[in-house]
Amino acid sequence: MGRITVVGSYVVDLMSRTPQLPKPGETVLGGPFQMGPGGKGGNQATAAARSGSDVAFVTKVGDDVFGKEAIKHFEREGFNIQFVHRSKTEATGTALIAVDDQGENDIVIAPGACGTMTRSDVLKAEEEIKRSQMVMLQLEISFEAIEAAIKKAVHHQVPVLLNPAPCVDFPQEWLKYITYATPNETEALGLTGVEVTDALSAQEAADVLHEKGVKTVVITLGKQGVFLSKEAGKGAWMDGFSVKAMDTTGAGDAFNGGFAHAIGSGAPVEEAVQFGQAVAALSVTKMGTAASMPTQDEIKAFLKDHQ
Ligand code: RIB
Ligand code: NA
Repeated sequence: MGRITVVGSYVVDLMSRTPQLPKPGETVLGGPFQMGPGGKGGNQATAAARSGSDVAFVTKVGDDVFGKEAIKHFEREGFNIQFVHRSKTEATGTALIAVDDQGENDIVIAPGACGTMTRSDVLKAEEEIKRSQMVMLQLEISFEAIEAAIKKAVHHQVPVLLNPAPCVDFPQEWLKYITYATPNETEALGLTGVEVTDALSAQEAADVLHEKGVKTVVITLGKQGVFLSKEAGKGAWMDGFSVKAMDTTGAGDAFNGGFAHAIGSGAPVEEAVQFGQAVAALSVTKMGTAASMPTQDEIKAFLKDHQ
């Protein structure tokens, strides 16, 4: 079984359905409301663990009700929680999410405690990083913590997956240490200046990232599929599975968690993409983010049905 260390965010997702997303200054009458574990780190950790990996989650929560709930969730999912830190000063992070009838969403994240993770919080997990098959990162925590994780992974020759989400500026020199980068089209545009609309432009964007040092580029394009490029000029489009979407929030996280699990278990990258796509497809058929991640059995059955 693969061992994955996720160094990332945990926030509580506070989600309301709404007939339409509110305009600035507008109040809309929405509902129902749902609360659950979230944050890109937490979601990806959950997806990987439910897929069958051994997951250690390095994060930080507050000394509050949401922090206690978080730890219960981590325990239920079977994470190694030795490196879940508690902030005495910062609250557990939150995400205010509105999802409209078309499944479009608006999200405001307040990272709280996980935004204050330090280098030393990460260094405590060095031994765990060293014995992992993959270190998985996103961009919702402090850059200091992300950089420490990249350095330790590289030092111990552990592959690094960076899901460069959300779309924020980060030190470009990180890219030369990244084994797998998994931007969506918005993040790919932010990173490369290339608007991805088809295989040609996807390859152009991927090549910019290869030039910056990324080994394998995986551009996720929602229901249109994934563009996978292992080498400059050598990418291929991989169609996704078509399902009836209920809520696409966290679908990217589902993909990343599934993909990381498959790579960590030794699967070839094409197969890992397909596995990730199955995890993502299943996750969008349910409301919620971490809570909607499928189990290993559900994924296996889905892949069998869709051969
Ligand atoms: O990727 C989806 C996640 O982004 C949500 O769970 C929310 O917490 C935000 O971090
Ligand atoms: Na979902």
